[in-house]
Amino acid sequence: MPRWHRTLVFFGFPLYTRRHIKSSFLLISKGRMTYCSYKPESSPHNNFNVQVLLKLYSLSCEPKHCEEIRKLLGKHVLKGSQIKNIQVEEGGKRRKLLLRYLTEPPAEGILEDFQQVSSEFIEKEKELREYLYRIVSEGTTENSIGLQYLKQLLRNSELESYEFSYDIRKWPLNKILRRLVPELVSWPSSFETVGSIIHLNLRDDLLPYKFLIGNILLTKHYPRIKTVVNKTGETSGPFRTFDMEVLCGDANLITEVKENGCVYELDYERVYWNSKLEAERRRVIETFSSSDIIADAFAGVGPFVIPAAKHKGCVAFGNDLNPISTEYLSKNIRRNNVSNLVRASCLDACTFVKRLIDEEIFFTKLIMNYPSSSTEFLHVLKGLYKSRENAPLPIVYCYIFGRGPDPFKDALFSVFQGLVGTTSPAFDTSAFQVRLVRDVAPEKFHMLVEFELPAQVAYAQKT
Ligand SMILES: C[S@@+](CC[C@H](N)C(=O)[O-])C[C@H]1O[C@@H](n2cnc3c(N)ncnc32)[C@H](O)[C@@H]1O
Repeated sequence: MPRWHRTLVFFGFPLYTRRHIKSSFLLISKGRMTYCSYKPESSPHNNFNVQVLLKLYSLSCEPKHCEEIRKLLGKHVLKGSQIKNIQVEEGGKRRKLLLRYLTEPPAEGILEDFQQVSSEFIEKEKELREYLYRIVSEGTTENSIGLQYLKQLLRNSELESYEFSYDIRKWPLNKILRRLVPELVSWPSSFETVGSIIHLNLRDDLLPYKFLIGNILLTKHYPRIKTVVNKTGETSGPFRTFDMEVLCGDANLITEVKENGCVYELDYERVYWNSKLEAERRRVIETFSSSDIIADAFAGVGPFVIPAAKHKGCVAFGNDLNPISTEYLSKNIRRNNVSNLVRASCLDACTFVKRLIDEEIFFTKLIMNYPSSSTEFLHVLKGLYKSRENAPLPIVYCYIFGRGPDPFKDALFSVFQGLVGTTSPAFDTSAFQVRLVRDVAPEKFHMLVEFELPAQVAYAQKT
């Protein structure tokens, strides 16, 4: 991520880079100045007005009549808002019934949930209670007892103004965005949360509003969320990381994630993490028993090996080539109190697997979750158990991207190819199970091929 794109933190205050400030002002000139006043010197998550001061009509009435009036006025009473529509007046003797009519428009413009009574009308009628009586009776064909009663009740109620601060943070993101930038026709469909970080994948048409979107999200979800980032590059390289830009908040991307009853510290910019795999990891771990020995060749920061040890009592070996990943893996092993059961290493996956066998650590489950390349490492299994015929053969969980119209067949054939270099192997393939984990993109699926390592592969001549 380019440094000049980040929010820098200096003595606890954010200092925005020149480019950041420029982009944000550009954005304001596109939106409405009154709604969105950008203050670079203020806290990074408070750059638009979240509180709107509302002045509403209210009826001051006797407690015993308040409920009746509320029922009779029906939809004209304030509803579904952030404040109870019956308030106790000072001294506790009378009640205030809040109506959904504004005495004057707020500086920030009228909110959808409220109505402005035309000033012309107010001047003419002077009193809203007459107006209220009229609008309630308009919808009624006969002069019912209820209406007569309402008229009488209204006569005994005082019409007053009531002020309160309405917080637009509780609105969904798209509603806030529409309010701040009325010309906007689309908004982010979803986002992912990784610990204290919100991760966006903004479409090109939303990029001019990226800082505002970051601001809104941080303002809405602070203090649980500390940073909002946008993905700017593809997940790539052996460590499966991607470029990102901090849109708002703390530039420190070290965070803590809770998953499947364990806690993981990780640097989101420098290691792989995908919260969407939580259910899949849980499902696999559920199948383990305490006698299992787990080897995870691409362990990341430990989301398979740590819960396997913690919840199932398995002995586990976690390995990752990314030294930063391994550092966090080691930290997380300690953090989750499984140091007695889990060992971390930073090796190439093939070396890791060979070393375990050389040490006569006969793992019962081998996890290979590196979907873009797992199959390139399967060759290590060929002949791995030659002259160790008494050792148990492991169940392999090979995650892979299945492509095209038949991702099941594609995934299975890739695994055969990786194991023995052909799509029609000589061993029995009926016990190979293929599962769809999740859709990734059109014609690209995260698949799991699960199989017991065939004896013909395990005892084969090494090539
Ligand atoms: C898709 S991630 C999976 C991480 C982890 N299993 C998870 O579910 O979060 C793949 C991992 O493989 C690691 N990796 C890439 N090449 C490797 C290799 N040759 N040997 C071992 N690990 C490797 C990457 O650093 C990355 O953490």
